[in-house]
Amino acid sequence: MSRIVMGVESSCDETGVGLVRLHDDGTVELLADEVASSVAEHARFGGVVPEVASRAHLEAMVPTVHRAFDTAGLRMSDVSAVAVTAGPGLAGALLVGLSAAKAYAAALDVPLYGVNHLAGHIAVDTLQHGPLPAPSLALLVSGGHTQLLRVDDIAGKITEIGSTVDDAAGEAYDKVARVLDLPYPGGPPIDRAAREGAPDAIAFPRGMTGPRDAAYDFSFSGLKTAVARWVEAAQARGEDVPVADVAASFQEAVADVLTAKAVRAATESGIGTLVISGGVAANSRLAALAAQRCADAGIELRIPRPRLCTDNGAMIAALGAHLVSAGCAPSALEVSADPALPV
Ligand code: KG4
Ligand code: ZN
Repeated sequence: MSRIVMGVESSCDETGVGLVRLHDDGTVELLADEVASSVAEHARFGGVVPEVASRAHLEAMVPTVHRAFDTAGLRMSDVSAVAVTAGPGLAGALLVGLSAAKAYAAALDVPLYGVNHLAGHIAVDTLQHGPLPAPSLALLVSGGHTQLLRVDDIAGKITEIGSTVDDAAGEAYDKVARVLDLPYPGGPPIDRAAREGAPDAIAFPRGMTGPRDAAYDFSFSGLKTAVARWVEAAQARGEDVPVADVAASFQEAVADVLTAKAVRAATESGIGTLVISGGVAANSRLAALAAQRCADAGIELRIPRPRLCTDNGAMIAALGAHLVSAGCAPSALEVSADPALPV
């Protein structure tokens, strides 16, 4: 008898509600993935404004839940479990999703699972590519996170083996976009501009690649500053900024470091599968370079489609389904938001 799991996501600026079907053989099927984004409301601030995000979640939550059930052609009484992001994320934003999920779980008298957003970014891949081999390596690259994670069990054992020591990769994209007068969020416009530019036009620094640096950690703050200084110097000379070349050279530096470290970690740990997820996984150069380097190293590469890579409710539903399938204990109804929840 298959079971329906509902997932609720509200850790940042997307209100996401997903519905999945957990089959008896443990496979998880995507039925609905509805997202309402407040990104446009944050654009003029150049970053997410927590208070604006919380209010937007409050307004969007119930309509998004209804859209998900309409899309899936299901009734609420079909749901067997509710999963919700408990952290990490913005405290006020998380509380909106948690409150809604608790209300639905209590009203439907089904178990509630407070889950980790980062694990959700990995679990979502199973909706597209099927069960994840154990162990796998995950490179999580988003606006808030840049981490290398060893995944022994998606329902239990995930270990961080590296992370950024300063900015997240997506944050660097957003800051460089601002320097180049491109809109927020910066990833998509930089990705587009880079197509017309030369990746080797400017030799931007590769952070944390020195002999004494931690092998699997990342740093993007120096790169961001180097781009800003380069642009300022060009402007001071009265030159037009070659936006496409700057974008392509910056993008190359990010993709180079991310893929080199991920492939090195997989090879040194004897892991045969790399999953790249999070908003930056939608980057075309990152995907191309990862494909090339993974093929050279004999590593299977899995990147979920862009829609699944950015924040959504389906990733939380998928993770919830894996917890149900593994027989994990549900959370207490008192489960609270943890803005700094580690994996
Ligand atoms: O996972 P996500 O939707 O939200 C967070 O949890 O942060 O990631 C958003 C980040 C933003 O920084 C955005 O600029 C970046 O992902 N991004 C991209 C691309 N699309 C989105 N970065 C590079 N290339 C892209 N095509
Ligand atoms: Zn995320």
